[in-house]
Amino acid sequence: MSSESVSQRKIAFYDTKPYDRKYFDRAAETHNLQIEYHEFRLSKANATSVHGAQIVCVFVNDRIDRSCLEALGGLGVKLIALRCAGFNNVDLGAAKELGISVVRVPAYSPYSVAEHTVALLQTLNRKIHRAYNRVRELNFSLGGLVGFDLHGRTVGILGTGKIGKITAQIFRGYGCNVVAYDLYPDQEWSGKHKIEYTELETLLGSSDIVSLHLPLTPESYHLLNEQTISQMKKGAYLLNTSRGKLIDSAAVIAALKCGQLGGVALDVYEEEEGVFFEDHSETALQDDVLSRLLTFPNVLVTSHQAFLTEEALGAIAATTADSIDLFLDGKECPEERIVA
Ligand code: NAI
Repeated sequence: MSSESVSQRKIAFYDTKPYDRKYFDRAAETHNLQIEYHEFRLSKANATSVHGAQIVCVFVNDRIDRSCLEALGGLGVKLIALRCAGFNNVDLGAAKELGISVVRVPAYSPYSVAEHTVALLQTLNRKIHRAYNRVRELNFSLGGLVGFDLHGRTVGILGTGKIGKITAQIFRGYGCNVVAYDLYPDQEWSGKHKIEYTELETLLGSSDIVSLHLPLTPESYHLLNEQTISQMKKGAYLLNTSRGKLIDSAAVIAALKCGQLGGVALDVYEEEEGVFFEDHSETALQDDVLSRLLTFPNVLVTSHQAFLTEEALGAIAATTADSIDLFLDGKECPEERIVA
């Protein structure tokens, strides 16, 4: 192999965590790729760290804005491989202008996210998070731990793509009534699973639990805000394992304080960049909105971990390496992986 082809097969990898290395090292071996891992997130300020690589691999909180792309383009980068499904952190218009291709992993394990969503709800509903701590202090009392049966409750699913559909089907398995809202309803699927599509306002007004599974777009930004939260049933539960900016967090805090929301489970948060995925246990948390959210006993926050299963990590690494291989061979990726 020539030195040129060796450098072509080099990948600058950002926001690396130990679990990334485990799965990507395996994929790199299979696909003969050389990965240079960086623990920091990629931005314009540190773009020279690509060190001659034509391909960079990034995650949800690397900020690939126009200035970063311009710097990367100037350094000879040709491909951004997102090791996630969402691509709201990349300026796609700028990438196209600069001739930098962008690929993603459109689906890895929708089960991972859907199952985490239901795990969050049931932890919150059945107060497992409180019971866990209580029992460890040898307090075996049950006061304050009353939950509700999911059976017979109405669940509203916003966004019935890959993850929303699996989540809806899990809730059907519990014996819930499921209603759904999507810009592009899939009537065949809804008929098969006895799920009814409704307008957003109707869904919000009839659901005991509302779960978000749509992407972040200009249209969906703060879809759950003061007005739409006020349309929800009093005491309803809100679940978000999709993207933080779908929810106006200040409106959620106000609704929790007056009991309009009975519980909130979040795997994503609108200002998670720089906070989630990191250990801040030795420093003061600077985000007062997140700090306030964490004080509610009926709020459960996980750190964007819904995707974190063996199956999902393996599939992410395999698909990313395959996309890179296709790119290096001058072949087209499957269309659903191409975002620019
Ligand atoms: P998908 O593309 O299969 O489905 C999205 C659905 O939302 C589509 O049916 C689409 O028609 C609908 N939609 C889009 N904009 C809408 C709008 N404004 N109003 C109503 N419906 C709208 O996506 P998938 O794979 O189901 O993922 C959903 C989201 O989950 C992703 O966009 C991503 O943000 C998030 N996600 C979170 C992860 C985590 O670890 N927490 C991991 C993977 C994805």
